[in-house]
Amino acid sequence: MYSSYQLARRYLRYYMKASNGKGHGMHSPFVYDFIRHVLNGKTGETDDIENLRRQLLRDGSEIFVEDFGAGSRLGGGQKRKVADIARRALKPARYAQLLHRLAAHYKPATVLELGTSLGLTTAYLSRAVPQSQLISIEGSKAISALATQNLQRLGCTNVQLLQGSFGDRLPGALAALPSIDLAYVDGNHRYAPTTDYFQQLLPHIHEHSILVFDDIHWSAEMEEAWSFIKSHASVAYTIDIFFLGFCFFRKEFRVPQHFSIRF
Ligand SMILES: C[S@@+](CC[C@H](N)C(=O)[O-])C[C@H]1O[C@@H](n2cnc3c(N)ncnc32)[C@H](O)[C@@H]1O
Repeated sequence: MYSSYQLARRYLRYYMKASNGKGHGMHSPFVYDFIRHVLNGKTGETDDIENLRRQLLRDGSEIFVEDFGAGSRLGGGQKRKVADIARRALKPARYAQLLHRLAAHYKPATVLELGTSLGLTTAYLSRAVPQSQLISIEGSKAISALATQNLQRLGCTNVQLLQGSFGDRLPGALAALPSIDLAYVDGNHRYAPTTDYFQQLLPHIHEHSILVFDDIHWSAEMEEAWSFIKSHASVAYTIDIFFLGFCFFRKEFRVPQHFSIRF
């Protein structure tokens, strides 16, 4: 994992080099549409999710969190305050809302999330496509129990939460879904697991699938994993917004292109 200083330097480099976040000068109609509707679109009604986040941020109760050796920011198996998990592990509202707009815009019929944590980003995805089938995997028993409660509270009835390691639960999840329209990989941020999940997902995608990888610049390993994914023969377009990387596979994109866009 990069130090805050190293990460800040990388963020600055990204910001200086990235394309304008409003789409000015963007020649690709697909990417222009992505900028307009996903990066800058309107988010649906999700105040209840942010109200729940605020409650979780004040929740001083402690739970036992197992260590998955996952490069988690939370460290090894030990007691953690729910408030600390809410503060450190969850995607901030701005990015969770972006993922909500992504799902609302492309309308995936199936969504797979690796790394549920407390279920807030899961809820954003569920709320965007309430008729779709959503599977989310979380390793920690206590965290997944809280996520189940949170998703019930938010009325997210289309989510199937699988508790267990990604390694154990991913094959079953892939078998349970007809194909993967949208996958969000947000856990176990290391080179080998990330590229392995990517390769396990590949036989289940189609040309309109979207794969999203979290924290692609978080460490040298994750940058290497993102490079591997970008250069894979199946990948047509990628969009890097620093804290998230998006992969597209559409056949209409004859020449692979890699965009870095300010968000
Ligand atoms: C960054 S958090 C997910 C945050 C969530 N997607 C959100 O934005 O609200 C990553 C989660 O993945 C889980 N995790 C990490 N590695 C795992 C593994 N190998 N198997 C199962 N769960 C894992 C952690 O317990 C943690 O709760």
